[in-house]
Amino acid sequence: MTKSTLFDTLSLGDLTLPNRVVMAPLTRNRALHDGDVPHALNAEYYAQRASAGLIISEATQISPEGKGYAFTPGIYSDEQVKGWQLVTDAVHAKDGRIFAQLWHVGRISHTSLQLDDQAPVAPSAIAAEAQVFDGEGFVSTSKPRALTTSDIAGIVDDYRKAAINAKNAGFDGIELHAANGYLLDQFLRDGSNKRGDEYGGTPANRARLVIEVLEALTEVWDAGRIGIRLSPFSQFNGIDDSDPMATFSHVVKKINELNIGYLHLIEGETGGERDLPEGKSIEALKSLFDGVYMANNGYDQELATDAVEAKSVDLVAFGRPFIANPDLVERLAQGAELNTVNEATLYGGGGEGYTDYPILNTRSAAA
Ligand code: PHB
Repeated sequence: MTKSTLFDTLSLGDLTLPNRVVMAPLTRNRALHDGDVPHALNAEYYAQRASAGLIISEATQISPEGKGYAFTPGIYSDEQVKGWQLVTDAVHAKDGRIFAQLWHVGRISHTSLQLDDQAPVAPSAIAAEAQVFDGEGFVSTSKPRALTTSDIAGIVDDYRKAAINAKNAGFDGIELHAANGYLLDQFLRDGSNKRGDEYGGTPANRARLVIEVLEALTEVWDAGRIGIRLSPFSQFNGIDDSDPMATFSHVVKKINELNIGYLHLIEGETGGERDLPEGKSIEALKSLFDGVYMANNGYDQELATDAVEAKSVDLVAFGRPFIANPDLVERLAQGAELNTVNEATLYGGGGEGYTDYPILNTRSAAA
């Protein structure tokens, strides 16, 4: 049997990815402050990383209401679509591929980030124990209002429009962000979803919104060009679920029926511990999905190489290593040393700590 390696091609829908090294979605808070519009600096940053097998854009709000942090980009206005076109053109000019990650933060927001200082929205009126960046500093999230059943139909529609906008902006596909305690994850979990209607209660009811959104997305994109990101065992953003195995076994089985391109799991605690206690199993969940499996969370060269060789994962999404190493694919191929991330420049600002990380052989990343 021949071994797969990180540098083999992979078919995803009708796309051929040149390698298995994916750039994970990474919030960098560098959209234009007026209108949350992507611009030339963002295009340069993504184009520098175009040798990834696939780039997943930073999380991108589908509506003004879906925003939870200052200076994150949107994908609902004409200006934003034009801005994203700069990004996708720049990535394609370097022979790359980029999916848009579609995001609604739900209760992970603050009134000051919402239109007319309104309360953020959520499945139930329960505040999260979490903080958001309001442009000046970190503030506790505001108490949300519970969505009505008809509001929910409007949110499905916002996702559909965002998917159309992603197509018009030249993206190669879309990833539905249903992880990390944001709106769709809030619906999935019994700690944040106390609804008495068809969107609350059983795992099937709590998963209804995610599935309705995915169905809407498949009306716009070929299913093979759609992925979904889940974080079944993470407690990030104050998420709480009494039985995540039951919740996510149902979710993954339903997703599998839609034949989407890939399942992207954050394995363990977001940005933290990978080990799971007895009874919680990533293996069990991914065995329920027949498409491409993308793994994320704390992968380094050795872990990624072993996982791909063992065929237990198809793609590995690297987050922090891609921030500091625009040429991560080449560095992994050569076994070269990696640059370290400058923590001070992660969120907000300009090109410093964004487009100025060096590539191998001391050439500048822009060359
Ligand atoms: C963040 O902005 O902190 C953030 C955004 C999206 C995630 C996780 C964290 O999935």
